[in-house]
Amino acid sequence: YKENEDKLIERAPVVTIMGHVDHGKTTLLDNIRNTRVAEKEAGGITQSIGAYQVNYEGKKITFIDTPGHEAFTEMRARGAQATDIVVLIIAADDGVMPQTIEAYNHAKNANVPIIVAINKIDKPNANVDLTKQQMVAKLNLIPEDWGGDTITVPISAKAGQGIDELLEMILLVAEMQEIKCYPEGLARGVIIESKLDKFLGPVATTIVKDGKLKVGDYFVAGSTFGKVRRMIDPSGKNVKMAGPSDPVQILGFEEVPDMHSILYGVKTLHEAKEYVEKKKALEEKVVQKRHIRLEDA
Ligand code: GTP
Ligand code: NA
Ligand code: MG
Repeated sequence: YKENEDKLIERAPVVTIMGHVDHGKTTLLDNIRNTRVAEKEAGGITQSIGAYQVNYEGKKITFIDTPGHEAFTEMRARGAQATDIVVLIIAADDGVMPQTIEAYNHAKNANVPIIVAINKIDKPNANVDLTKQQMVAKLNLIPEDWGGDTITVPISAKAGQGIDELLEMILLVAEMQEIKCYPEGLARGVIIESKLDKFLGPVATTIVKDGKLKVGDYFVAGSTFGKVRRMIDPSGKNVKMAGPSDPVQILGFEEVPDMHSILYGVKTLHEAKEYVEKKKALEEKVVQKRHIRLEDA
């Protein structure tokens, strides 16, 4: 991609919500999806493909269904950073808990900017100030309104309070981050979910990071390859093309690709097969070497 550096443009931020168990990740994702996604297209049954996209004030934001912390780290280990921004959700009636700290560390290690959403402010026992004190003491995150630089938004995911402000802050952080992509050329994407569907065969949800993925394109992903037979967007609609930050479910894999592997568009079937053969040969070599080492021991 290097030679096209002049063609870099901004793309929509990809956001992951992380936090302690029961602090409201799913409720927040559902609230945003239900109130902001204007699907209702022909036959529009909203699919659960592990990600969706909203349009807020004319700008797109892609949300990934919360992966476990391990998945987040695994993605990073494979160089497949799917997320641009992490929303760290902390319930105001429970405060900073062990998994809050864990989630924070994962995001910090991945160098992903963090926005804190203090949730459940509708509850009578919610204590926003105490939660902020814990942010400072346990995470070393100082809220902006306390003179620090951590954007902190009080919300009620259940009542829909503070969601607009949260989305605005996401767009603001995205703007500051200058999240860029190469819009043209063969696609590069991150697989965030993959499975063998009873009816559809191997399917995978991919977030395109660069370039364009089109129906009919050949691709490689992890240790498999394929040809895009069909693409389904989060509203359940068949689409012919997906661009940067778009989540799509892809059909046409030879085998189920590894979760969190990177998908690359390639020019020809030959190129795709060659890549996979080389990769398999390399893997065999690694296995053999391990074998020899075991025999030596
Ligand atoms: P896990 O996926 O199990 O880790 O939980 P989660 O973080 O996805 O939390 P979830 O959205 O399932 O919410 C847990 C409980 O808190 C549910 O009963 C929600 O209805 C409730 N809840 C979430 N957000 C709010 C809120 O803003 N206010 C109130 N009162 N309850 C909330
Ligand atoms: Na829960
Ligand atoms: Mg959940």
